[in-house]
Amino acid sequence: MAQTLFIPKETDANEARVGGSPETVKRLIGLGFNVVVETGAGTASRIPDAEFTGAGASIGKAADVKDADIVLKVRRPASPELKSYKKGAVVIAMLDPYGNDSAVKELADAGLTAFTMEFMPRITRAQVMDVLSSQANLAGYQAVIDAAEEYDRALPMMMTAAGTVPAAKVFVMGVGVAGLQAIATARRLGAVVTATDVRPAVKEQVASLGAKFLAVEDEEFKAAETAGGYAKEMSKEYQAKQAALVNDHIAKQDIVITTALIPGRPAPRLVTREMYARMRPGSVLIDLAVERGGNVEGAVAGKITEIDGVKIVGHLNVPGRIAATASQLYAKNLVAFVETLVDKEAKVLKINFDDELVKATMLTHDGKVVHPNFAQAAAAVAVPAETRAARPVAKKAAPAKPAAPKDAAVKPAAKKAAPKKAAASKAAPKTEGEA
Ligand code: NAI
Repeated sequence: MAQTLFIPKETDANEARVGGSPETVKRLIGLGFNVVVETGAGTASRIPDAEFTGAGASIGKAADVKDADIVLKVRRPASPELKSYKKGAVVIAMLDPYGNDSAVKELADAGLTAFTMEFMPRITRAQVMDVLSSQANLAGYQAVIDAAEEYDRALPMMMTAAGTVPAAKVFVMGVGVAGLQAIATARRLGAVVTATDVRPAVKEQVASLGAKFLAVEDEEFKAAETAGGYAKEMSKEYQAKQAALVNDHIAKQDIVITTALIPGRPAPRLVTREMYARMRPGSVLIDLAVERGGNVEGAVAGKITEIDGVKIVGHLNVPGRIAATASQLYAKNLVAFVETLVDKEAKVLKINFDDELVKATMLTHDGKVVHPNFAQAAAAVAVPAETRAARPVAKKAAPAKPAAPKDAAVKPAAKKAAPKKAAASKAAPKTEGEA
C-alpha cells in the first residue's frame, strides 16, 4: 500500500504559508505517495481545498496526521501536535532549532525523523531546496512593498503638468539575498538606491543592479567575509567609522531597509535614533532583522512604531506576508528534497544516511537527537516525560533571539559547500536577488 504524506494546516495563527501546492501534490503523487491535505491548509495562501483535490490529494482533518509516514510543514510541530504523530514518521519543516534544544529533544522523544530545511547545504545540487534563499528573496521584495505602503509619497520621479515629483531615496543596509532583492525592487519602482555591506564581494553586485555602494573600505572590510560567504562581526572601531559614514547619508534618505545579520550573533545595531531623528517626517525604516534583535534602535518586533515622525516597521515573518508566493516556492523546495529521500523504483521512502543533504539537515532519528550541533545539548536537557506533556505550545520566533549560528552548522558538510543558515557555497551559481 502506498505510503501516506500529510500536509497539515499550520497551527501558528501568524503563519499563512503551507508546505504544499497543487503542483507539488502532483509531483508527490508521482513519487508514489497517497497525499492527504488538511482542510483549509492552503486557504491563507489562496489555495482552496478543491485545488488540492484537483491535483489528486484527498482532504483530511488534523488528526489524520496519525497515519502519515511523512509530514510536510512550514514550522516545527508544537508539543500538543506531536502526540498525534506516528512513531517513526518523517517530518520536514523549518524547525528553527537554535535556542530550542528542548523542542528538538521532543521531536526525538516522539520518535520522529525530523529534517530542518534551514540547514540545507548551499551547494549546486541543493539550490532548488534552499528555503532561506527562496524566503529571504521574497522578504526583500516585500520590505520594499511595505515601505511603499507606509511612505505617504510616490517612489518614482514623475514629471506631470502639475509639477515634478522627485524620486524617493532608498538605502539598503546589508546586501545578502534579501538586500539584493530589495535593491532590485526599489529600482523597479523608480527609487534612487544606495546600499552598504561589510563584505567587499557585494560592491559589484550592488553596481550591477544600478545602485550606488557606500562603505568604509578599510583593511578590516577587505577581510570581513568568512570562507562560508557570511559576514564577521566587525570591531567597535569599524562600527564607529561605519556609523560616521552613514550618519549624514541616512539624514537624506526617505526609506531605509535593513537586513544585516551575522551568523551566531545578535543582529548588528546599524541605525540609531540620533541618525533617524534627522530624517524628514514621514520617512520609513524597515527592519528585516527585528526577529534577531534588530538593526534599528526602537524597532519593535511585530509592530509599526513612530518615533520623531519616522515610521519604524518591525513586521514578523515577512515572507508570510506574501504567503501565496512564499508557499509556492517553499513547497517546491520541499518536494525537491523529498525526491532525494524516495526510492523511485519501489516508490517508498528510503533515506540514504550517507547523503550530505541528509547529514546536514537531519536533527532527530530513532528516538535520538542526531545532529552534531544539538546532540550534546539534548543529553543535557533530559526532560521527564510527565513534564514534557504539560509544556506550553512552542511559540514562534522570539523577537530578540540571536541569529542561528549558521557557521556552526557547517560542520557536517564540506567547507565551501556548507549548509545554509550554515554557510554559502561561493562555487554554486547564484540566482537569488537577480533583477
Ligand atoms: P545574511 O542573511 O547572513 O546577512 C545579510 C547581509 O548582512 C549579508 O550580506 C551580510 O554581509 C550583511 N551584514 C552583516 N553585518 C553587517 C554590518 N555590520 N553592516 C552591513 N551589512 C552587514 O546573508 P544571506 O542573505 O544569507 O547571504 C549570505 C551569503 O550567501 C551571500 O554571500 C550570498 O550571496 C550567499 N548565497 C549563496 C548561495 C549559494 O551559493 N547557493 C545562495 C544564497 C546566498
